[in-house]
Amino acid sequence: MNGIDTLRGAYLERIKTAADEAAVEEIRLAALGKKGEISLKMRELGKMTPEERQTTGASLNRLKDEIDAALRARKAGLADAALDARLASEWLDVTLPGRPRRMGTIHPVSQVMEELTTIFADMGFAVAEGPQVESDWFNFDALNIPPEHPARQEHDTFFMNRAEGDDRPPHVLRTHTSPVQIRAMTDQGAPIRVIAPGRVYRMDMDQTHTPMFHQVEGLAIDKNISMAHLKWVLEEFCRAFFEVPSVELRFRASHFPFTEPSAEVDIRCSWKDGQLKIGEGDDWMEILGSGMVHPKVLKAAGVDPTEWQGFAFGMGIDRIAMLKYGIPDLRAFFESDLRWLRHYGFAALDMPDLAGGLSR
Ligand code: DAH
Repeated sequence: MNGIDTLRGAYLERIKTAADEAAVEEIRLAALGKKGEISLKMRELGKMTPEERQTTGASLNRLKDEIDAALRARKAGLADAALDARLASEWLDVTLPGRPRRMGTIHPVSQVMEELTTIFADMGFAVAEGPQVESDWFNFDALNIPPEHPARQEHDTFFMNRAEGDDRPPHVLRTHTSPVQIRAMTDQGAPIRVIAPGRVYRMDMDQTHTPMFHQVEGLAIDKNISMAHLKWVLEEFCRAFFEVPSVELRFRASHFPFTEPSAEVDIRCSWKDGQLKIGEGDDWMEILGSGMVHPKVLKAAGVDPTEWQGFAFGMGIDRIAMLKYGIPDLRAFFESDLRWLRHYGFAALDMPDLAGGLSR
């Protein structure tokens, strides 16, 4: 009897202090395994008298059950503790803000296209597109620039090749975004309100010109659209785009074959210590051409000029990007210099929106 109590005390103590599940298994083998201490004692029962066997057998069985239960409990406790430890070591606060990773930057021209699209979309303008390789009819004729018109020379056009013997007029790299006016009206008819940002090409290269540059065309046609609407839309655009409380625009009479009357638009600005400021000062900077769409242009696009009228404008995107972000040299836009891009570029995935502040 005494021997059994000693065994119980010793094993329960060992089980209590077992460090891990492997140690618990070791104790189980030592006590209850085939050659375990308690198993061996069970075997000795056969040599006992029936009376002894009855009492000792019952005690040994109880001891066996007790040790077995203690082993299981300790094992479960250790497994719980191990899980707790793992959970604690792998703990992660999913509410923490992410760590920003360098993913390259958005080119200022792309950024500005996003910004102006956001602003015009807010005023109800949809985005229209057209091909960069354009027929000369869309690029010129439909815009009231017939073959002999001097404006054709001014456009420094790149011509595509025609196959030998094909004497149709060659296609051109579009010299402006204005042909998208014709395509959009032909497709959608009137009323219509669209902008068309995109690449244009002219054979020109110096400090302020590159052979490829970007324009955005605007077009609004309805029953009663006037120059007053044009003025409001452009002022609203400039205020939002340059993120200033007010801007002053100057409309100068001009001439474009596709508008009548036509106006070039300047924005008031100041140059102080090489720093350009929009909305103040005594200087003016030309930013776009505009006017009331010529009846011949409406007619070419299948829109009845006795019923519909409206305004159009064409603005240099690279120019307004330089103005807004203080970029001094146009040519740098297209040199793909990574240091330049890192300096002037914008965070990827940071889409401009009017509520959040366009350029943050
Ligand atoms: N297409 C002209 C250019 O590239 C710009 C322009 C002027 C567009 C007047 C217009 C406009 O829509 O009405 O020089």
